Amino acid sequence: MKIAMIGTGYVGLVSGVCFSDCGFSVCCLDIDEEKIADLKQGKVPIYEPGLDEILKRNKEAGRLSFTTEPMAAIKDADAVFMAVGTPSRPGGGEADLSFLFAAVRSITPHLEDGVVVVTKSTVVVSTNQRIYDIISDLRPELKFSVASNPEFLREGAAIKDFMEPDRVVIGVHDEQGEALLRQLYAPLNLPDERFVVTSLENAELIKYASNAFLAMKVTFINEVANLCEMVGGDVLEVSRAIGLDNRIGRKFLNAGPGMGGSCFPKDTRAYAATGVKYRAPQRLIETVIQVNETRKINMADRILDVFEKPINKTAAILGIAFKPDTDDVREAPSLTIIPRLIENGMKVRAYDPEAMEVGKTVLDDVSWCESAVEAARGADILVVLTEWGEFAAIDMSEVASAMAGDIIFDTRNILPAEKVSGAGLKLMRVGAA
Ligand code: UGA
Repeated sequence: MKIAMIGTGYVGLVSGVCFSDCGFSVCCLDIDEEKIADLKQGKVPIYEPGLDEILKRNKEAGRLSFTTEPMAAIKDADAVFMAVGTPSRPGGGEADLSFLFAAVRSITPHLEDGVVVVTKSTVVVSTNQRIYDIISDLRPELKFSVASNPEFLREGAAIKDFMEPDRVVIGVHDEQGEALLRQLYAPLNLPDERFVVTSLENAELIKYASNAFLAMKVTFINEVANLCEMVGGDVLEVSRAIGLDNRIGRKFLNAGPGMGGSCFPKDTRAYAATGVKYRAPQRLIETVIQVNETRKINMADRILDVFEKPINKTAAILGIAFKPDTDDVREAPSLTIIPRLIENGMKVRAYDPEAMEVGKTVLDDVSWCESAVEAARGADILVVLTEWGEFAAIDMSEVASAMAGDIIFDTRNILPAEKVSGAGLKLMRVGAA
């Protein structure tokens, strides 16, 4: 079986590498020549634990290759996976499908009879039908099938999520698509109930509704945290206890500085826009989007409010990435909070174990530091924005001696309170008075 993976962004690269590790022959295609040149040399453009090793192993075994030539990728392919980005349209919530459709047009001349074109990109309802129509118009004689196979990979845990998924969803409109995808996922040995075969439209909706629900869950606990702060509660205890109800579940109930990343913000916007378009407004999700935007601003204001005059006070920011184990800063709380502190006259020193190179390209006027303790040097307040493991284990007495002030704001509730107070520092948390 041969797979062509179109697009070597996060989803395409992880999926392509993992399929090759399952024993299939995979060729990844991208129009970015520099990226492909790097990948050919085994250089992985993103930070994802374990990805570089698996890539190297499969490249050496001759199962994984990279190209910028559509012909080379698609020749003899049984499945062509579309994993092209679907960003938000500038100024609007809708997903911009132009890159995806351009990619479909560019591969169509090379498709061969019997091929299944599978969409992995996150796409709004009816996109797969449009892909079918584009290919049929350009190649009326071609015998092909389309399928939808949304991904549920979390950055930082993407390999495990691919190899041991909660479920694999495939949307198909004929048996050929179903049979091929069953074969491709057979190496994962999933029990039958975890393999969901459904229509193209359902598969498209399942992806968006899943992300929308999780985003709503996170936003819900963030609002509970606000209430805890006002009434003297503690969100850690409230969330633990409500999560023990199996119907609710413990996961995605950690209050924080607001959700970010390349998926939840973009996908909730696209989902809400789809609701409006089809006259079934998704009001809960519209509210989630607003609440989340406001939350990031409120976090910055909580920092500013610590000081009577924030001008020339220094904040040490620990964590730029939107979550740990990634260097991704897209729509991260740091990108709202840091500029707002700087606009209000504060100085910012920052450290992140992986995301500083990317952070430097999108954040101005920040003093970048080589370690957490270095960032704390001379700071009036230290703010944990990302729950990297090394921050939870930080030596608080070293932090205390480095800082000029004594306020720690833990927006992820990961620091042990007794260690903070033991070092003579004052702890502010989310969801606690
Ligand atoms: C998310 C989904 O979890 C994946 O299933 C999906 O495949 C992916 O989007 C996608 O559509 O590609 P990801 O963006 O990697 O994955 O990040 P999450 O781990 O879901 O976190 C999203 C945001 O919610 C982060 O900002 C995180 O800090 C925040 N979050 C998450 C919380 O604040 N509290 C929680 O309890 C959980």
